[in-house]
Amino acid sequence: MNIIELKKRKSEGRKLSMVTCYDAWSAKILNESPIDILLVGDSSAMVMHGFDDTIPSTIESIAVHTAAVRRGAPKKFIVADLPFLSFRGDLQTNIDGVRKLMQAGAHAVKLEGFDGNGEFVKLLTESGVPVMGHVGLTPQFMNAFGGFKVQGRSSEQKKKIIGEARGLEEAGAFAVVLECVPGDLAGEVTSTLKIPTIGIGAGSACDGQVLVLQDLLGLTTGFRPKFVRQYMNGAEQIAAALGRFHEEVIGGQFPNEKETYE
Ligand code: KIV
Repeated sequence: MNIIELKKRKSEGRKLSMVTCYDAWSAKILNESPIDILLVGDSSAMVMHGFDDTIPSTIESIAVHTAAVRRGAPKKFIVADLPFLSFRGDLQTNIDGVRKLMQAGAHAVKLEGFDGNGEFVKLLTESGVPVMGHVGLTPQFMNAFGGFKVQGRSSEQKKKIIGEARGLEEAGAFAVVLECVPGDLAGEVTSTLKIPTIGIGAGSACDGQVLVLQDLLGLTTGFRPKFVRQYMNGAEQIAAALGRFHEEVIGGQFPNEKETYE
């Protein structure tokens, strides 16, 4: 997969699959899967580090996760998230952050929002850094949005999201993530843009879909947004395996003779 193939998929009407990935062991499994794109998301702050939101994510942390993913999944197209405010400083700092992620093994970066980012997106694409945009419920704006809320319901928000997606395309982005927006708005953005849209909580009209890996494997417990489909009960299966291991240790059935060196 590369950005040329990605854009071709849209013109051929073939959908794209993307999942988050933060570590080498799951990257190894994904490397042998048909999944098209791996996203080293700033959701790693929540999923891997236990924070309540993505604000604490840093370039250094995303770079460590990206390097691990690249080692585990050398065959995959890897997109790394630019964390909160990491691309809103002076130009040198912004470029240094992007360089760290690309040198850690990313093939592209993703950034949230459009207003104030157009010039930077243009500069990056002109400098050989493919950029994926992200509009709608952009989690880095959760304090400005008053929480994790569906975006694009009012006509004003709708206009803004369409304008942002168009702006990103004009600035050179190769794809745009649409997060938690009504399905009809996602459909309108998807038919307006030439570049692919990748939805999460944005209905089926998008050119592709993304989910957090741990959500789709049923590894996350607690609140589950309605757009998350679990493809297995990972947490239950792991709990059962750990329970069996514990019982067999206590009962003396593990290890057996075959599992013991002579
Ligand atoms: O960080 C992340 O996981 C994301 C996806 C929700 C698109 O940005």
